Amino acid sequence: MPLPPHDPGPSTDLVGAMSFHAADAAVRLGVFDALPGTAAELAKATGADEEGLTLLLDLLTTTGYLARHDDVFTATAMWTGSGWATPLRLWGAIIGEFWRDLYDGLATGRPRADFYRWLSARPADLAVFHQLQSGLAGWLAEEVVELIPMTPGRLADVGGGRGVFAQAFLDRTPGLSAVVVDLPGTPCELPLLEADLAEPLVLDGYDHVLLFNVVHGFSRSRARGLVHEAVASGGDVHILETTTAPRGGVADQAFTEGFALNLWLTQGGRLYTADELEGWLREAGAADVTRTDLTRSPTHTLITARSAP
Ligand SMILES: C[S@@+](CC[C@H](N)C(=O)[O-])C[C@H]1O[C@@H](n2cnc3c(N)ncnc32)[C@H](O)[C@@H]1O
Repeated sequence: MPLPPHDPGPSTDLVGAMSFHAADAAVRLGVFDALPGTAAELAKATGADEEGLTLLLDLLTTTGYLARHDDVFTATAMWTGSGWATPLRLWGAIIGEFWRDLYDGLATGRPRADFYRWLSARPADLAVFHQLQSGLAGWLAEEVVELIPMTPGRLADVGGGRGVFAQAFLDRTPGLSAVVVDLPGTPCELPLLEADLAEPLVLDGYDHVLLFNVVHGFSRSRARGLVHEAVASGGDVHILETTTAPRGGVADQAFTEGFALNLWLTQGGRLYTADELEGWLREAGAADVTRTDLTRSPTHTLITARSAP
């Protein structure tokens, strides 16, 4: 039986990986900040090897990051308009540091799962991480605050990072106070309650508990425990999570699956289905569980619940 014809050219995966690493190197060298320029001028400005940089600039031109007129390189709209610089820096570090251990993690059943320890030893990447989270949170918060009827009282933003979501609720709810529960050293302007969420958490006397983009960082048993502990606080509990069933196209689905695998590899976590999250809330005794797919993100779902009377 004849073999089906196949394209002998380089796979798009391979080109994507090369282009990603080339763009990561260009960002770290400061190439995009030094534009416009010829290869020689950019090599001088960044201190990079001119021959290697020339080859890198050619690749980035063909893959859409740069345009070339005569010998002068400029950034394209794809780069300047995408806001990709910040995620690219963080993902470059994560893929470079963690994904090379994917085989070992899978083969031994022991993923590295030391993401936050690794991050805490790298101040520049830690700052980029919180910048990225805060940017996304700021964008989503405008929609989320409309979906949760907040009342005066005490709010705990568990795994709240810089506290962007908590601050958005504070800004529109007189009589509300908030704490962020997060790792020591988290750069947050709100009162920080230092805690390791890997350990059982006792939350007493809160009216509202946010678990936003946080349970996915933990194993199933710990994630379920965290949801139970939030309900046990006596407050209403709101979970915002990346959905396992994104509402976009195949690119969103692929990114979501890569993100889930990345959570497993870097944190021992994963994505949980909305049904599972709702089940944990109900079995812990929460009532009035509702689910809303965000319109600002095809990959985020908000689940809200009232603590049982
Ligand atoms: C993906 S970020 C989400 C931040 C914020 N809730 C948001 O939605 O933008 C996860 C947060 O959980 C915190 N976190 C992760 N593991 C933790 C742990 N073991 N103990 C305390 N906080 C932790 C991180 O420091 C980070 O701020």
